[in-house]
Amino acid sequence: MTPFAKDYVENIVPYVPGKPIEEVERELGVRAVKLASNENPLGPSPKALRAMRSAAKQAHLYPDGRCSVLKAKLANRFGLGEDQFIVGNGSNEIIELLARGFLREGDRVISSESSFLVYPLIAQTCGAAYTAVPMKDFRFDLRGILAQMDDRTRLIFIANPNNPTGSYVKANEVEGFLSQVPQEVLVCFDEAYIDFVEAGDFPNLLNYVRGERKNLILLRTFSKSYGLAGLRIGYGIASKQLSQYLEKVRQPFNVNRLAQIAAAAALGDGRFLRRTKRLVSDGKLYLYRQFTKMGLEFISSEANFVLVDLERPAEKVFQALLKRGMIIRPMAAYGLPNHIRVTVGKHGDLVKFIRVLKEALKG
Ligand SMILES: Cc1ncc(COP(=O)(O)O)c(C=O)c1O
Repeated sequence: MTPFAKDYVENIVPYVPGKPIEEVERELGVRAVKLASNENPLGPSPKALRAMRSAAKQAHLYPDGRCSVLKAKLANRFGLGEDQFIVGNGSNEIIELLARGFLREGDRVISSESSFLVYPLIAQTCGAAYTAVPMKDFRFDLRGILAQMDDRTRLIFIANPNNPTGSYVKANEVEGFLSQVPQEVLVCFDEAYIDFVEAGDFPNLLNYVRGERKNLILLRTFSKSYGLAGLRIGYGIASKQLSQYLEKVRQPFNVNRLAQIAAAAALGDGRFLRRTKRLVSDGKLYLYRQFTKMGLEFISSEANFVLVDLERPAEKVFQALLKRGMIIRPMAAYGLPNHIRVTVGKHGDLVKFIRVLKEALKG
């Protein structure tokens, strides 16, 4: 170890993303299907694509550091002030800004087992302790989280819907939870998949932000429902005070020009959003039917992916699928060694996935 390295950084196990499709295609020499990173199978929003094409000519100019056009559109969309938004290089960057802005060595971050792996990662980069509370029936256990809180607890992450389970915490649960979290503890509801939610009892936390609740931030992204994952753009919604505080710890030009322009255009692409939602909703029903026929247990999902239990070590099945040009995500890193997570793709790709899954499970 380098003598001046921080021991808690040295101990970090790097995040392993889904296998890039280009890499698999190169290795196999065949066209592959990737259902591994919860991307949008319809590609980028067409309105975003058009906006980017014309904006590309200005790539020699620095972007607007304040993201003012996008913030104005978001403010208008949600009925909030422009100063209540913080835009980042993916919502991942906002997670990092929270760590940079709030965490000190020895602080505690709490979330759940089997949730987004970036939460423990950023806690570790700051030398903060990380507590992963066990799930209850594959759902966040908010009471369990409250029970773990101590006076070192600074930040709580709740992915709602959760990745990789697709489960969610309900409006009435959140109400009780928020009323018990002290003002000095920041609660981050990561709503990366909110556009896919169909459940009627899903919480609308914008009302809490409108009420200027000081210790709450919501995260959203353009990576999923708007198909802009490759551009890296997401945002946080919070009180004016909290958003403006986070502005202090970001880089001056943290969000690139094309991403800002594409995101602003995508927000106005209701047609694309509706098509995406329909595809995901229909695709989930298809997968549920197939898994049921195959006798596989799955978790009903409010997101654009489904977690399914193969009742055997999933790594072998993952490798067998990979050989057949099908990339999905084994879940051992999330503490679920028998599960895989499959992103809802186009119907033809889901049909192929089920066919090759049946083959792999036989072999
Ligand atoms: C729960 C959750 N939060 C945040 C993100 C990051 O999204 P972004 O692409 O905006 O950084 C993801 C991406 O997979 C996610 O699953």
